[in-house]
Amino acid sequence: MSDNEQIQAGDGVKTRVAVVFGGRSSEHAVSCSTAAAVLQAIDRDRFEVLPIGIDRTGRWLLVADDPEPLRLTPTQRPEVRGEVAVTMVTGSRTLIVREPGQPPVELAGVDVVLPLLHGPFGEDGTLQGLLELSDTRYVGSGVAASAVMMDKHLMKVVFSAAGLPVGAYAVITDKEWRRDKEAAMDPVSALGWPVFVKPARAGSSVGITKVDRVEELEDAIEAAREHDPKVIVEAALPGREIECGVLEGRGSDAPRASEVGEIEVVSNHTFYDFEAKYLDASDVRLSCPAELPREIADEVRTLSVKAFEAAGCEGLARVDWFFEPGGRLVLNEINTMPGFTPSSMFPQVWKASGLDYTALITELIELAQERLLGLR
Ligand SMILES: Nc1ncnc2c1ncn2[C@@H]1O[C@H](COP(=O)(O)OP(=O)(O)O)[C@@H](O)[C@H]1O
Ligand SMILES: [Mg+2]
Repeated sequence: MSDNEQIQAGDGVKTRVAVVFGGRSSEHAVSCSTAAAVLQAIDRDRFEVLPIGIDRTGRWLLVADDPEPLRLTPTQRPEVRGEVAVTMVTGSRTLIVREPGQPPVELAGVDVVLPLLHGPFGEDGTLQGLLELSDTRYVGSGVAASAVMMDKHLMKVVFSAAGLPVGAYAVITDKEWRRDKEAAMDPVSALGWPVFVKPARAGSSVGITKVDRVEELEDAIEAAREHDPKVIVEAALPGREIECGVLEGRGSDAPRASEVGEIEVVSNHTFYDFEAKYLDASDVRLSCPAELPREIADEVRTLSVKAFEAAGCEGLARVDWFFEPGGRLVLNEINTMPGFTPSSMFPQVWKASGLDYTALITELIELAQERLLGLR
């Protein structure tokens, strides 16, 4: 534990954890809903919680310690709103609080930041850079792993170099698209049909389209470009969607892999899209442990740890696979801040492995406390 940032509370010493959520990304609402669950479940006997919401313009705000307005339901898309701004002070682990019309107040140091942010400006290394500059420990991967694993193109480059199996793809950069659309789309035909068109750096399936025919390709690329000017087009992979949770090892221990889970989209959706992920729980079946031959589940776990290490991840990650009918495993992606509501896959696979939601949050905070500060 760190030195002077603990506070005495009752008969114990509490660690002060800033739970940071919301953010300038299309996954703002999802992040709020995760925060709702974490505020409810975090061990209050061990942790003092500072809920910090980032609004859609990027302002950091101290918000109420109340899960209710943050829940995501079919009728409520939660959003961070507030008046009390907070700023992290470089090099001091201190937060400055500014209430309108009041002089700034210094809030005692933060021991650990728990970033519950998905997508750009949260899961992509930018927030991690700010926290490094502030000398603050945080949960999850560092700057480089967060940035590279956010980019579905760079991610594949790293995995290929590590000998991990990835599917065929083509990349369309912003400049290529603006220069000559036909030429930019040319490499896509070699992938066969259908293809999946995706923003390179997004998540929660936003901006992703399954395209069956060349005539639909341009519109799908434009739709992806609304989220990221860099677009990746992937050959469709047949097979089951298999996921594995990985937690960093304590000290110099190897990473730990969870039981293996499976996602099945059972109706109304052509793939695991945004609605299926967050709003239509009845259309998706998560199962864990997945019904797989034991040697396949073991292979998923071994390869997931290999992917975690190849990516240089820290803390946690969820590694997503396609299990093809022929028996081949193909790596779809790593998420450095996976969906983290109690019903999300990552907490579910750890629950099946003996770690419940509250214990999982505690484990992540303790791993962050082991983290060295400064250049590593
Ligand atoms: N190459 C592919 N072949 C088959 N299905 C895919 C492919 N890529 C994505 N999908 C489907 O789309 C979903 C979302 O894609 P994914 O790359 O995981 O994006 P996100 O980062 O938004 O989760 C996957 O869970 C899967 O259902
Ligand atoms: Mg995914």
